[in-house]
Amino acid sequence: MESPSIRSICCIGAGYVGGPTMAVIADRCPAIQVTVVDLNAERIAAWNDADLSQLPVYEPGLDGVVGRARGRNLHFSTAVEEAIAAADMVFISVNTPTKTKGLGAGQASDLKWVEASARTVAQAAQGHTIVVEKSTLPVRTAAVIQEILASAEGGKSFAVLSNPEFLAEGTAVPDLEAPDRVLIGGDDPGAIAALAAIYGQWVPAERILTTNLWSSELSKLTANAFLAQRISSINGIAAFCEATGADVREVAKAIGADSRIGPKFLQAGPGFGGSCFQKDILNLVYLCRHYGLEEVAAYWEQVVTLNTWQQHRIARLVVNKLFGTVSGKRIGVLGFAFKADTNDTRESPAIRICKDLLEEGAILQILDPKVSERQIALDLGQAAGDGSWQHVADVHQAASGADALLLLTEWQAFAQIDWPAVAAVMRQPAWLFDARAKADGGAALAAGLQVWTVGEGIKP
Ligand code: NAD
Ligand code: UGA
Repeated sequence: MESPSIRSICCIGAGYVGGPTMAVIADRCPAIQVTVVDLNAERIAAWNDADLSQLPVYEPGLDGVVGRARGRNLHFSTAVEEAIAAADMVFISVNTPTKTKGLGAGQASDLKWVEASARTVAQAAQGHTIVVEKSTLPVRTAAVIQEILASAEGGKSFAVLSNPEFLAEGTAVPDLEAPDRVLIGGDDPGAIAALAAIYGQWVPAERILTTNLWSSELSKLTANAFLAQRISSINGIAAFCEATGADVREVAKAIGADSRIGPKFLQAGPGFGGSCFQKDILNLVYLCRHYGLEEVAAYWEQVVTLNTWQQHRIARLVVNKLFGTVSGKRIGVLGFAFKADTNDTRESPAIRICKDLLEEGAILQILDPKVSERQIALDLGQAAGDGSWQHVADVHQAASGADALLLLTEWQAFAQIDWPAVAAVMRQPAWLFDARAKADGGAALAAGLQVWTVGEGIKP
């Protein structure tokens, strides 16, 4: 079948996925006009900011990509209908968070933004339009989108594809420029060929996989479930290592050398965060229950249970080591983002751990190179300045008068701390709790601190 050649793309949703993904498509396909639209005018204004350091998403290398394409064939706009009408292909890249109320609350994905997008496409599209699911969606959502589009009036036609995104935050640009694979699910060969031709501009053909719609949708949930499962597995073993004198990094190296296991995603830490792992597993759990697969649901649910336990465990450990109480004690928190090289704090383990410590009466001095005080206040549900926490600018301030430093995000700068200088401003006896095994624990120990490292325990 002849594949329509795409000249104009619209992407609904200018978030962590829509923005970087479309920037790379525009960069690699200068002949295609790409317009990213969003209802959030503030976000669109930030994408259009002349100062590329003000983009709403922080990703290494993204400023260069946006700088090359923006204004040429990459546009950011709030004119949603107009951009859809002009497009041959529309990506839906809106948020799909866990439902907070109603049927499936706490587990099922909330599809109201996806449904709203599909309705807008049905109403605003012109002629033939290929609609691409970029958001992570429950398996069989394409059928819902097809049904909504089928109700469109006025001789319009549509093809629906699933094209889940596998980028990780912090490495979005290299992940998009050299993906392990691109997955395209669908049943319209012409539409599949049109989307494959876009990626084919820079992705080798053997890395572009095509499947049916449902396999594509389910592969995305499954990939995230498998990745998260590895983290809960290694975090469980980390706790066991601390109890027995084994060292989780040595164990991870030993098992990762087995080519069947592989070395990646075996880094013990404070538990996984990020907007997707928990949401996608809970969605998988919900769907398994829906299809009567209780044992399968319970199996995957345990990945999330262990993750939550790991976060509470670290907060409890800090309290225990500080003589059973942190009331009125200062604790410097190093890192608030859910991982390094991102400004994203969604589901960050720092949120739960900090809340637990605040609940115990600690005074937190929180440092993160990319997360604003406003964002931390939103996440903690309390403003700074009431005495319970403050946002600080450097490690020295985080440590000042503190009984402990708690390292929660693996920012590279935390590997190069001047421990004698830091120890000098802390209240003794002082601790370093390194939940990422990122700091130079030997140097902290030599500077007089007691040191606990995840998966290793207390340094002798
Ligand atoms: P996000 O919240 O950063 O961005 C979504 C954007 O969509 C928001 O700016 C919102 O205003 C906009 N939006 C919602 N409804 C709209 C509508 N009707 N019209 C126009 N704009 C609308 O979300 P995200 O992190 O980019 O994630 C988007 C999807 O991609 C989710 O399904 C997520 O699971 C998936 N995903 C995310 C990542 C990631 O690293 N964040 C990676 C892979 C997949
Ligand atoms: C993850 C997946 O890696 C992407 O493939 C996927 O597209 C994305 O989710 C999504 O669907 O949103 P992301 O959440 O951005 O990407 O980042 P990861 O690198 O996967 O890290 C997730 C969390 O796991 C972080 O809190 C990280 O610190 C933690 N992690 C990761 C560990 O604790 N140990 C590891 O070994 C790896």
